[in-house]
Amino acid sequence: AASDPDLVRRAREAKAALGDRLFVLGHHYQRDEVIEFADVTGDSFKLAREAAARPDAEYIVFCGVHFMAESADILTSEQQRVVLPDLAAGCSMADMASAEQVAECWDVLTETGVAETTVPVSYMNSSADIKAFTGRNGGTICTSSNARRALEWAFAQGDGGPERKVLFLPDQHLGRNTAVLELGLSLEDCVVYNPHKPGGGLTTQQLRDARVILWRGHCSVHGRFSLDSVNEVRERMPGVNVLVHPECKHEVVTAADHVGSTEHIIKTLDAAPAGSKWAIGTELNLVRRLANRYADQGKEIAFLDRTVCFCSTMNRIDLPHLVWALESLVAGNTVNRIEVDPDTEKFAKLALERMLALP
Ligand code: 13P
Ligand code: SF4
Repeated sequence: AASDPDLVRRAREAKAALGDRLFVLGHHYQRDEVIEFADVTGDSFKLAREAAARPDAEYIVFCGVHFMAESADILTSEQQRVVLPDLAAGCSMADMASAEQVAECWDVLTETGVAETTVPVSYMNSSADIKAFTGRNGGTICTSSNARRALEWAFAQGDGGPERKVLFLPDQHLGRNTAVLELGLSLEDCVVYNPHKPGGGLTTQQLRDARVILWRGHCSVHGRFSLDSVNEVRERMPGVNVLVHPECKHEVVTAADHVGSTEHIIKTLDAAPAGSKWAIGTELNLVRRLANRYADQGKEIAFLDRTVCFCSTMNRIDLPHLVWALESLVAGNTVNRIEVDPDTEKFAKLALERMLALP
C-alpha cells in the first residue's frame, strides 16, 4: 500500500531539518515505507560498519532491531546517540540466550574442563551482554556474511590443535550450516546445548568429543522453511534456483542451490541473467522488494514458501514510529535512545572489533 502522504512529507521535513546531524540506517528486512528514508541499507555486517564509519553524525536512527542498535551504540562514540524508533523491535532469536543462561553454560564447560579449549563465537543476533561474555572469554562476533571466517579464526586460536572447540551462540542453524557446509566438519562433530536442561542435556563425554557446541536457538521466521518448501517450489517452478539465508535449517540449506546473507542474496540477484527464476528463503519484505525491483528485467523472483511471513519485530518500525522519532529529535528530545552500559560496552566492543578485523 502507498504510504500516507502527510507522513511522507513530515519525514522528509524532519530529515531536512536535521541535515548532516542525522544518519538513518535501514536493514534489508524493513518495510518499503521505512527503507525510503534510509541513508544506507545493508545486512547486519554492513550496517555495523556504516555506523562505525559515521563519527560526525550526532544521531544514528537505526531502522532494524534492538541488537543491531546496541551494536551501533557500541561502535560509535559516547557523544553520538543511537535511536531505535520502536523499543519493542527485538529479535526472538537473540532472546533465546540470556546472560544468566550463558554464564551457567560456561560454568558447565569449565567444570568439565572443556572451557579451556573452547572459543565462543556469537552471532550478531544476540544481546550486548552476550557479546560482552564473548569478548571477555577470548571470542568473536560473527554475522551471516563472515561466519566461516569467524569459525576459522576461532579454531586457529591457542595452538590451533584438534582439541580446539567453538561454543556457537545463539543460532544453532547458522553454526551447524557453517561448520558442516563451509568448514567440512561432520554433523557428529556438532552437539546442541539446551539451556533448559541441566548440563545443557549433554554428557561430559559428549562435550569433550564435540568440535562445535551449538546453542539451542533459532530464528522463528527462517525456521519455518522446510524441505517440503524446497521440493514444492522445484515442482511449481521448473528450473528454479533456490537461494536461502543460512538461518534456515540444515536440511533446507543442503537442498538449496545457494546460501548467503541478505546482502549476498541481493548481489546474487543483481548478477542473475534475465529470464532466470529464483525462489528466496528469507524475510518477506525483502523478497517482495526484490521481486518488484527485478520484474522489469525479466527475472522471476518468488517466495520460497507462501505460508512464511514477515519478521514481526522488524515490522514494528513503521512510518509513524519513524516520523515520531525524527520529529522528536528536531524538537531536541532524544526518544528511544539505546545506550549500552560502559562495562558491558568495553568487552562487547572487543568482540565486535575482533569481527571487524577478521581477514
Ligand atoms: P543479515 O546479516 O543477513 O542481514 O541477517 C540478519 C538477520 O537477522 C536477519 O535475520
Ligand atoms: Fe531475529 Fe529472525 Fe527477525 Fe532476524 S528474521 S530479526 S533472526 S526474528
